[in-house]
Amino acid sequence: MAARDAQKDESAHRGDGVYFGLMSGTSMDGVDGIAVRFEHGQRPVVLAEAFVGFAQGLREALFSLQQPGENEIERASLAGNALAARYAVCCHELLRAGNLSADEVRAIGAHGQTIRHRPEKGFTVQIQNPALLAELAHIDVIADFRSRDVASGGQGAPLVPAFHATVFGSHEDTRVVCNLGGISNITVLSSTGAVRGFDCGPANALLDLWAERHLGKPYDENGQFAASGNLHQPLLNALLGEPFFEQPPPKSTGRDLFNAQWLDEKLKGFESLTPADVQATLVALTAVSVAREIERHAGDCRAVYVCGGGARNRVLMEALHKALETGGVAGVPVMTTEALGVPPQQVEPLAFAWLAMRCVAREPGNLPAVTGAAGERVLGAIYPR
Ligand SMILES: Nc1ncnc2c1ncn2[C@@H]1O[C@H](COP(=O)(O)OP(=O)(O)O)[C@@H](O)[C@H]1O
Ligand SMILES: [Mg+2]
Repeated sequence: MAARDAQKDESAHRGDGVYFGLMSGTSMDGVDGIAVRFEHGQRPVVLAEAFVGFAQGLREALFSLQQPGENEIERASLAGNALAARYAVCCHELLRAGNLSADEVRAIGAHGQTIRHRPEKGFTVQIQNPALLAELAHIDVIADFRSRDVASGGQGAPLVPAFHATVFGSHEDTRVVCNLGGISNITVLSSTGAVRGFDCGPANALLDLWAERHLGKPYDENGQFAASGNLHQPLLNALLGEPFFEQPPPKSTGRDLFNAQWLDEKLKGFESLTPADVQATLVALTAVSVAREIERHAGDCRAVYVCGGGARNRVLMEALHKALETGGVAGVPVMTTEALGVPPQQVEPLAFAWLAMRCVAREPGNLPAVTGAAGERVLGAIYPR
């Protein structure tokens, strides 16, 4: 018996256990949470999921912090406290839904909210208050996942490809995982085992902005607004003129570039278009910018698996399919990650739970081939409970 236990201990991995992952991305809609059990060599087992939306006041505070402004240190700190409170609500919901106690959870991987992303200047800032979250949730918190990658010369993004490779990779075919959050990013999982990944451009960040401005709603539900308009090719060409789209990987972007100011600048000369036509064109921009990168970097892919909130936008999914058809990668089916057993809204929070596990185990979380970092690094800072 004792010998068997010893054997079991040896095969156990020091990162094994239950983790929470909390992801709030550039859409700033709220926080997606997951409770998951990792056991070395096994598929992750999801125990619970939760979503906690952000009130309008917090959304506005986070939006205004995207640009330099008055008294921003205090405003960022207060927004970080408010965020920790929402994250704590999400954790309590996960404990309840998963029938778990805080003692059973090894750590929370909490992404925080990006308010500046300037890897070329050597920094990226995700605000939150991890100390407060540790205090409120009574669980170790792991935060600031991106800084170490940036410190080693990387983009600090995307960080999800390593996790994508562990759950979605196949030796039989090359696959693309495409996350449609505020920004779009793709992970190319080659049948050889090679992994690449980078940001492609704006997705829901601009779609939401335009829906908010013209419908007074936080997003264009199922893409109905876009479907009521027509794609305007000259505007699409003007939008695609942005140099970021032609930049080779590694590359990452955010609201630093793709924001209201960027869009308003590009719309000069197109004032006669209806708001619905602009929305239809922004859908096409998202689809074409992703499809072009797939064509360039994953021409041999057999399927595209979409995750993130954009997977719920039927019109956007159809546009992506159409852009691939006309873009030289015809016949490639576009599905959600549900087809691989993971619901699209769970992928990003699962990735941050996984990164927390890697930090606990002192194992690297980045892929230098993806981010451009000098080497593999253990990511995150630990705030003990
Ligand atoms: N039913 C829907 N129809 C259209 N868009 C949707 C729908 N559900 C979610 N979304 C979009 O998904 C976004 C949230 O996606 P998410 O993956 O959480 O992004 P992020 O990681 O940037 O927060 C929303 O802001 C919205 O634009
Ligand atoms: Mg979100």
